[in-house]
Amino acid sequence: MIDLRGRDFLKLLDYTPEEIRHLIGVAKSFKEKKKNREPHAYLKGKNIALIFEKDSTRTRCAFEVSAFDLGMGVTYLGPTGSQLGKKESIADTAQVLSRMYDGIEYRGFGQDIVEELAKESSVPVWNGLTNEFHPTQMLADMMTIDEHFGHVAGLNLVFLGDARNNIGNSLMVVCSKLGVNFTCCAPKELFPSPELVATCQEFAKESGAVIKLTEDPEEGVKNADVLYTDVWVSMGEPDEIWEQRIALLKNYQVNQEMMSRANPNAIFLHCLPSFHNTKTKIGKEIAGKFGLEEMEVTDQVFTSSKSKVMDQAENRLHTIKAVIYETLK
Ligand code: CP
Ligand code: NVA
Repeated sequence: MIDLRGRDFLKLLDYTPEEIRHLIGVAKSFKEKKKNREPHAYLKGKNIALIFEKDSTRTRCAFEVSAFDLGMGVTYLGPTGSQLGKKESIADTAQVLSRMYDGIEYRGFGQDIVEELAKESSVPVWNGLTNEFHPTQMLADMMTIDEHFGHVAGLNLVFLGDARNNIGNSLMVVCSKLGVNFTCCAPKELFPSPELVATCQEFAKESGAVIKLTEDPEEGVKNADVLYTDVWVSMGEPDEIWEQRIALLKNYQVNQEMMSRANPNAIFLHCLPSFHNTKTKIGKEIAGKFGLEEMEVTDQVFTSSKSKVMDQAENRLHTIKAVIYETLK
């Protein structure tokens, strides 16, 4: 019997494969309920606080809509407008919010901040993205893969890009726990830390997953079932780093040629937001400066039938709802 009541959700390193699969199962049942317009305001009378020190579309909306659907109240605390960090410590904030709310979401910088927040809080704390990890995203990703292929274990997932960012790290963790073969395809400078690789190798022994690290994109995408990429520069990194990242990662762009080297039934995933055209402020600036109109993925691949990015984005809602419900019910 899996019981997650009162638990924090800070990183998937803290969760067993059974617990992860359980959360995905609950998310699937919430998706059904939503589709059938079946009311599920199971947490009426509870309230949650959402702390966002970085921007967000999907994560914020998924937390808010989940709360509304579950019958809860929500307070959004954005990058400005609260005392957090400027006049009030994490510890004091945690204790104050614990007196008023039943759960706290945190998106921000170091993983140490969300870990401290959780330590000082007496209610569950959920990680909505840190520099190191993005665990709620992983549940949506695995759910999307499972919906498409009917299973996840034994599939080959290749991540191309900045493999030591929150998404690269978290994918290696979740894949190694769930028996998904994980290939990190990136220049050596952007490989995940040897410590995290070693930890994941241990999980992989248990689950049967194979973890590979390669600098060669041609070799990396061979036999891939899932090609996954993310932005080349993450939130919180300085703008000056763009030039260096483009030089390092331009050969890892997911384009038609890359897709054609993968398995014929391979799908494309991306956590979003994505630079696949010049319809964004940053996209335009990069095109002007470096002559690159598409970055980590081409518009052709992004908009193709192989791209499941919108299913993935929708599944953020159902999976985040599962995390809130299972930890607060
Ligand atoms: N994928 C994701 O976390 O998106 P947001 O930054 O919009 O929340
Ligand atoms: N690596 C990206 C993920 C966004 C969801 C970032 O941190 O900006």
